[in-house]
Amino acid sequence: MQNRALGKRGLAIGQLAERTGLSVSAIRHYEAEGLVRAFRTSGNMRRFDRADIRRLSFVRIAQDLGFSLAEIRQELGKLPEGRTPDKADWARIGATFRKKLDARIATMTALRDKLDGCIGCGCLSMKTCALWNPRDAARRLGSGPRYLLGDTSEDALGGQG
Ligand code: FES
Repeated sequence: MQNRALGKRGLAIGQLAERTGLSVSAIRHYEAEGLVRAFRTSGNMRRFDRADIRRLSFVRIAQDLGFSLAEIRQELGKLPEGRTPDKADWARIGATFRKKLDARIATMTALRDKLDGCIGCGCLSMKTCALWNPRDAARRLGSGPRYLLGDTSEDALGGQG
């Protein structure tokens, strides 16, 4: 814990929980994971920077999107210590996260658009499988639902489709 804000008020963990929508125990968990850090006031009270609201909001949404705490910690590790992160700091995180998000959006879009069709998973249970994945041709591209992972039936059929 940093003793860095003599005279600085900051937010109590309950206030942080109320504003972020996270439980106090969740914030303590993120603190134990090194994703957020409290400081001691001159009155020896544990407090958090107001900027930690954004930090925890980022953690919460990133977790909701399926990012691991290790991935989130790696990104937050790019933020400066000892000062409130500014737009440029967050933009740096945004750049790498944007790529990861685009990949997830592509997968989710494929799922949304192909859910009622053949996804190249090998089940051969849909009428469309005979057309788009005859004799499970997609298996030669690897395991998993190939058509949700970026492959096409043309890839599976080796351009014969
Ligand atoms: S949906 Fe599974 S192989 Fe077509």
